[in-house]
Parts: sequence; C-alpha cells; structure tokens
Amino acid sequence: MEKKRKIGVLGSGSGSNMQALLDAIEVGELAAEIVLVMSDNPDGYILERARQAGIPAEVIDCAGYQSKFPDHCQERVGKRLQEAGAEFVCLAGFMRLVKQPLLDVYGGKILNIHPSLLPHFPGLEAWRQAIDAGVAESGCTVHYVDAGMDTGPVIVQRQVPVLQGDTAETLHERIQEQEHIAYPEALKLVFAQSP
Ligand code: GAR
Repeated sequence: MEKKRKIGVLGSGSGSNMQALLDAIEVGELAAEIVLVMSDNPDGYILERARQAGIPAEVIDCAGYQSKFPDHCQERVGKRLQEAGAEFVCLAGFMRLVKQPLLDVYGGKILNIHPSLLPHFPGLEAWRQAIDAGVAESGCTVHYVDAGMDTGPVIVQRQVPVLQGDTAETLHERIQEQEHIAYPEALKLVFAQSP
C-alpha cells in the first residue's frame, strides 16, 4: 500500500482548496493525511471544515498584526507543524508572506496555490488583476514557496479562459474549479518526486 504523506495546511478563508485535498484523500486519489490545519483568521471557515473532518484546527496568533507574519509567529507555526508530524505544508488561501523562519524548517516542502498563471498577476486578488488587464486567459498555479511573493518554481498550472461578460467574481469561481483539480494533482507529482 502507498504510504500516506502527512500534510499541514495553512489558510485564511473558506478553505475550499483544503476541502478539495480532503475529498481527493477520501476517494483514494491522494495518499495523504491532513494532520493539522492552522488559520490566522479565527473566523475562517477553513477551521470549521477541519473540525468537521476531525482534524486538529488551530488559530495562528499573529501578535495583532493585520498582514505581517512576525518571525516569532512563524517559528511557532513551524514548531506546531513539526509536532503534528507534517512532512509537507500546503498554503491554501493563506494571505501572509511566509519567510525564513518557516522556510528554515520546511524549505522545499511548502506549496502554495495562486489564482493566476504565474509569473502574471502575483499578489492580491489576482482574478481581479486579470479582468482589469483585459487578458484573454488566466488560470491557477501550484508552486513551491520561496522567500519571494508568489515566485517559487511552478509545479502545475491550469488555464482558464476569460469569457465575455466575466466579472472578477465569475472568473474567480471558474479559476477555483480548476484550483481544486490542480492542488491534488500537484501534490501527487511532489510525492512521486520525494520518496
Ligand atoms: C484561492 O483562490 C487561492 O488561490 C487564493 O485564495 C483563494 C482561497 O480560497 N490565494 C491567494 O490569492 C494567495 N495569493 P479557499 O480558502 O476557498 O481555498
């Protein structure tokens, strides 16, 4: 039997990408186990989804900072992930920049999903950036995390056409459908490359 890889997930929002990973695990498509879910947003639905699935769910205390991810908080998160036995860390809608303290512990083992075809439209609300730029195509990217913003090596990309009449919201919805396919797909590739 394929060995189950242990994953920790960090998110800030609804957690639909985390759910997609759980669903892929459930149907036996992904040989993995989510061992810990952490959110910097105490109200993030991702925490509720985790609890419903019986997965430990914890709030990340960011010392009152709105968007910064202070070093000592990253150290603590790294420690909790290690204690939970996570081998890989998946950022799933996590809206703070991961830097050295966490990269020191999990370098090369942190993945992120981003709602554009990187290197296009890094940063916030990439779907809105695509609409504003008037491009004909956008999509999503799963990539390894390095110290930059949405800059690490790409693992999987999936294209999404921008349709006539698309708003930022309708485009984001269709990008999310592809994200939910791309994330499990990327993890399978990563697992195959790291026996
Ligand atoms: C996703 O679209 C993800 O790509 C995006 O946030 C959304 C989270 O949705 N992430 C970023 O923009 C990171 N730069 P979810 O909470 O339902 O998974």
